[in-house]
Amino acid sequence: MTRTTLIAPSILSADFARLAEEVAAVQRGGADLLHVDVMDGHFVPNLTVGPPIVEALKKVTQLPLDVHLMITNADVFVDEFATAGADYLTVHVEACPHLHRTVQTIKERGVKAGVTLNPATSLHTIEEILPDVDLLLIMSVNPGFGGQTFIESCLRKIATARQMIDRSGSRALLEVDGGVKVDNAARILAAGADVLVAGSAIFCGTDYAATIAALRAAGQPASAHR
Ligand code: DX5
Ligand code: ZN
Repeated sequence: MTRTTLIAPSILSADFARLAEEVAAVQRGGADLLHVDVMDGHFVPNLTVGPPIVEALKKVTQLPLDVHLMITNADVFVDEFATAGADYLTVHVEACPHLHRTVQTIKERGVKAGVTLNPATSLHTIEEILPDVDLLLIMSVNPGFGGQTFIESCLRKIATARQMIDRSGSRALLEVDGGVKVDNAARILAAGADVLVAGSAIFCGTDYAATIAALRAAGQPASAHR
């Protein structure tokens, strides 16, 4: 089955001093979503951005904002991120003891709800919530930093997640985040991913459009490359 591949550049590896230009460049280059990594220095050992940056991004791009919350108190911030303009809000199962409530709160705010899990967390933890979510994000690195190496064992997890989504009749997009590069994109897409998040692969290169096109093309059958 041919599936539409969506590319979500992660601004974590962008030049923050020129953020609007960087975002314009990936938008021109064919990005489908803009991935925004929110870290609190508690759930993950790093600090990044919060609602004011999401609000600022909303003013400079038409790309849907795919906000990945790597924070302990997600419930406390749903409102603020929704108001700031998040289109997708994705929360970690490890950080949300009342995941059903969190997902409902996100949806009540008119935002698409995503759930994600760390590499060592079993897919069983999202089985019950899967029919309720718009996006399932498989972390293929331990979250916290850009530029890490893709954990190969996640390929099997991506394939299992694909089966779970298809069997449950869920319409959730299957997104993969961490260590995604042009040279492993084909395997990740063959395992069943719909959305590729790519930070360093795009922003540490020179030709953003070419990298986005190459990531997308990795999902096409060989004959389509001609
Ligand atoms: C990791 C973040 C990722 C990260 C991906 O904690 O969630 O979105 O920016 O970066 P790369 O593509 O460089 O692995
Ligand atoms: Zn992310």
